[in-house]
Order: sequence, then structure tokens, then C-alpha cells
Amino acid sequence: MTIKEQIKKDLQKAIEKSFGNEMEDVYIEHPQDSEHGDYASNVAMNIAEGVGKTPREIAERIVSALQPGKLRCASKVAVAGPGFINFYLSDKFLVDELQRILDRGDDYGRSRVGEGETVVVDYSSPNIAKPFGIGHLRSTIIGQAIYNIYKFLGYKVIGDNHLGDWGTQFGKLIYAIKSWGDEGEIAKDPIKKLNELYVEFHRQAARDPSLEEEGRRWFKKLSEGDPEAHRLWEKCVDWSLEEFDRIYDILGAKIDYAYGESFYEDRVLGIVEEAKNLGFASESEGALVIPIGDNLPPLMLLKSDRTSTYAARDLAAIKFRQKEFGPVSKMIYEVGGDQSLYFKQLFLAANKFSWGEGIDFVHVAHGMMRFASGKMSTRGGKVILLQNLIDSLMEKARAIVEKKNPRLSESEKDQVARVVGVGALKYNDLSQNPRTDIIFKWEKALSREGNSAPYLQYTYARCRSVMRKSWRGEEPEGKAASSTSEVFPVAGEFGLWGIEERALLRTLYRFPEVVEEAAEVCSPNLVCNFLFDLAQKYNLFYAKLPILKSAGNVRRFRLSLTAATAQVIKNGLNLLGIGVLERM
Ligand code: ARG
Repeated sequence: MTIKEQIKKDLQKAIEKSFGNEMEDVYIEHPQDSEHGDYASNVAMNIAEGVGKTPREIAERIVSALQPGKLRCASKVAVAGPGFINFYLSDKFLVDELQRILDRGDDYGRSRVGEGETVVVDYSSPNIAKPFGIGHLRSTIIGQAIYNIYKFLGYKVIGDNHLGDWGTQFGKLIYAIKSWGDEGEIAKDPIKKLNELYVEFHRQAARDPSLEEEGRRWFKKLSEGDPEAHRLWEKCVDWSLEEFDRIYDILGAKIDYAYGESFYEDRVLGIVEEAKNLGFASESEGALVIPIGDNLPPLMLLKSDRTSTYAARDLAAIKFRQKEFGPVSKMIYEVGGDQSLYFKQLFLAANKFSWGEGIDFVHVAHGMMRFASGKMSTRGGKVILLQNLIDSLMEKARAIVEKKNPRLSESEKDQVARVVGVGALKYNDLSQNPRTDIIFKWEKALSREGNSAPYLQYTYARCRSVMRKSWRGEEPEGKAASSTSEVFPVAGEFGLWGIEERALLRTLYRFPEVVEEAAEVCSPNLVCNFLFDLAQKYNLFYAKLPILKSAGNVRRFRLSLTAATAQVIKNGLNLLGIGVLERM
């Protein structure tokens, strides 16, 4: 249990004791002003209405029921203002937590709250024979972070790459390959060539509508297992996956499964039968739909030509996941906001089936990413290929390290360029609320000063450098590397902490609760905000107080703060899929 939950529990108990109220949700937060303690609750205001006392009186009653002297982690609880209850964490708690960070190391923040629950994360999901778009990039980066965070909390997590590898467009593509394509040529630059063929199909079909019929004919052949149609389709899949895998490699994305839409083609009939039997499918203008209500358009299962839809395959996927991995408690879709209406319909439809009942469906609807100069799109001609984007980031990162740290070896510089370049790309995305549109600015992404990956990586490297110097070049082995037992303060000196030391201590312990909150609202940016705050506090501390030049217990204490800061930054960045460097 995190300290935050502990305090909530204590509050709940005290409220029940004083007023007999069972409060499910007691809201507590970190006050803006640290003078007001580490946690504050406005619960007294909420209770006051029903009780006929002033919030202050109620707050006082709650505090006396809390018996502050007996609380495990708070040294003081005070009533403030109109009736806020403020908690001040004890020095002992803060120091114990510092010790825990050093003891648990890479596992600090890991927990078992999710044990016994299964979460599916549907992410990345690019389309075969189409470019890997910026939307898919965002989905891959954010989806992977959400996946990592849930895993860290002990959930059983299933990552599924719902590849767009089925649908009538493949009939058109196959027709186009057969009519105008050359497989040998395509193989040289598949996605580009396939995309061109697809565009060509639409250009010609605009003049000659009979082509649409050809496209349908080939899709029908594909569905019926025609060997030639199937061979070409499979080629498209292989060509595309080769390219996608290159991107996943660079990003370090590892997605457990990639069933893809085609996997569900045979399962769609089952869904259709079920919907008919249960009486919630109906014919509409030749198509088969599930009416949704709620003023939403119905969800189409079969088109008028009886081919299946994207939606039908998504329903089949939900059923399959539930049977294969379930019971699934949460299914998270990291997909662009342009599909918001669709997911609303899908989730309502899924909830009608026994296998979809009770699943907590979440659509993390990411916004668009633009470049400082206009929208990034694969259609409008202004194509900035992902590979180019990543290459330029690495190049720029390399130029910076060349300037800042010319003495590093060539291979070290390459490594810095890669870890910083990819980190900058990911962090730019992750540090903002996924649901907003974001703008990509090179300077900001690569800045060593602002809220960026390089800033955090740089702070980490700074901490590590301080630690290396404290060992005078001889790195202790294993656990001693963070020198838990040696690098530690004595109890009697608590009172002597400087403002910056205290500020750091009062931030470090929050990491586990931040991770839980980030999972709850599927927002890795909460982890970023926290890390940025922590790094700023460390750098203030570093600027104000001597570490290596101090002596005795003070020195030990400051070194342990340094080691703990490095550890927490590393754990946080690791969840975001971003690496750290010893030197940069
Ligand atoms: N392939 C789709 C696209 O690029 C995204 C699929 C998202 N996942 C899903 N289960 N519908 O738009």
C-alpha cells in the first residue's frame, strides 16, 4: 500500500468513528504550498452539509479521532483554513523511504496491486501496405509505456498489435499489383511502391468505375482462399512487417502478439450468429447492424455485400481475448482520437454480449502530432518518414554530444546519440497528455534544460558522476554500489536538513503513488511530470549544497539522496522505455 492509501484509510476510519459515515472515496492531494504539509484533504467540507456543523468543527473531530500521535507516517496533523486537514510526514518515514529506494533498487515502485487481474493493451496497430504513420508512432510509444506501467504494478498484461491486414482494400491492392505492379520492383521499396499502386487504383477507378467491381472480386477470392490472391496478400504482409519491425527495433517496442484483423475473419460469423440469436442485430438497407441507442449510429457488422467490417472483427477480437486470456478486467485501446465515436459504439455493442459484459473498456484517444510547420500527414505530400525523423534526431543528438563531451570514445558517442535521440522522440510524446494534439519542436525535444528526456538523462548522469567520484574510481560491487549501509544519515541530524534536502526527500517517496495514478488514468505524462519535478529539485540541491566537499554524516546523507534520485529517475525512465547513460 502506498503512503497515500495508508493516509486515506486512516481518514476513512476516523470519519467512521466520529460520524458513522462510510466514505468510499476520500480525496487527498499534495498541497501546492509545502507549508501546508505533504497531504491535504477537504473531506470535512463534504461532510459538513449533512451534519449541521461547521467544516472546521468537523475537521477537528476527525483529527482527534485520528489520534495523530499514533499515526505511523505523519508526525503532525493540523486543521487549516476553513477546514482542511493537513498531514505532515515524519522525518522517520522520509528517511525510511530513502532507505527503501536504495534497498529495492530497480524494483522501487514495483508492486503487486494488480495481481490476479488481466489487462489487454491494444496498441501500435499499423496497416499492411500503408506507411507506418505518426498516429501509429504515438500509439506505439504511449501504448508501450502504458503496458510497462501496468506490468510494473503486477497486472497480467497482454499487448496486442491489431494489424490492419484485412478488408476490401486488399482486393483493390491485389488487382493493382496484378495489373500494373512488378513484384521484383515492389520488393525494393515495398511500402512506397504498394502505396503508389493503391493510389493508382483510385485514380483509375475514378474514371472507370468497373475497377471497383474488380477490387471486390479479388477480395472475394481472397476471402475464399484463392491461392494467387492469398499469395499476394501474404507477400504484402511480409513486406510490411519487415519494415514495421525495423521501427519497433529502433523504438525498443516489444508487443506480445500481432493477431491482426485477418485472424478474426473466420470468427466473425460466430459473432453474427450470436447477435442474431440474442435478437440485437437488425437488417438496415441490406447491411446487418447492431443498434446502439444513446443517440449513436448503429454499429455495422456486415456490409450489403455480406463482407465483414472492421467493427465485426473488433468484436471477434474482444471475444477471443476474453476466452484466451481472460477474465479480462480492462481492455485499453491506444488509438487516435478520430476513432472516438467508433470506440463508443464498439464498447456499447460489446457490453451487450455475455463475454463483453463487465470489461472496463478504455479508449486512450491520442491527439495529432504536428511539426512546428504544419500537419504531419502521409497523404498530403508533406511526408516526413519516420525513419528520417529518427535519423535526424540521432544526428542532432550526436552533434550535441560532440560539442559537450568531445573526449568520449566514438562508440560511446554513438550510443549517446541513439539513447538520447530515441529518448527525446519518446519523451516529447509521453510528457504531454496523450489526449491532446502535440507539436514537435526539435529544440524542445533535445534541450538539456527543459522538460525533456535529455534533461532527465543528464541529471541522471550527473548523479552517477557524483557517486563515482565519491568512490574515487573504485565502484563497489552489487548492492554496495548504492552504498546503502555506508551512505546514510544518523537519526540525530534530522533537524539539520537544509531546505533543498528536505524538498528532495518530500518528493522521492511519491514515485510509487505516481505510477499507480498513471495506470489508473492511462497517462504516462504523470510519470514525466514527476520526474521533471524531481530532477529540478535535485539540481537545486546540487547547486546549493556541497556534496563531495561535505564531511561525515552530512556527506553520507547527501550521497544517499544522490543515489536515490538516480535510482528513481532510472526506474521512471525505464517505464517510459527510455534509457539512461553513465556519461553524456
Ligand atoms: N489499424 C487501425 C488504424 O490504423 C487501428 C486499429 C486499432 N485497434 C483496434 N482494435 N481497432 O486506424
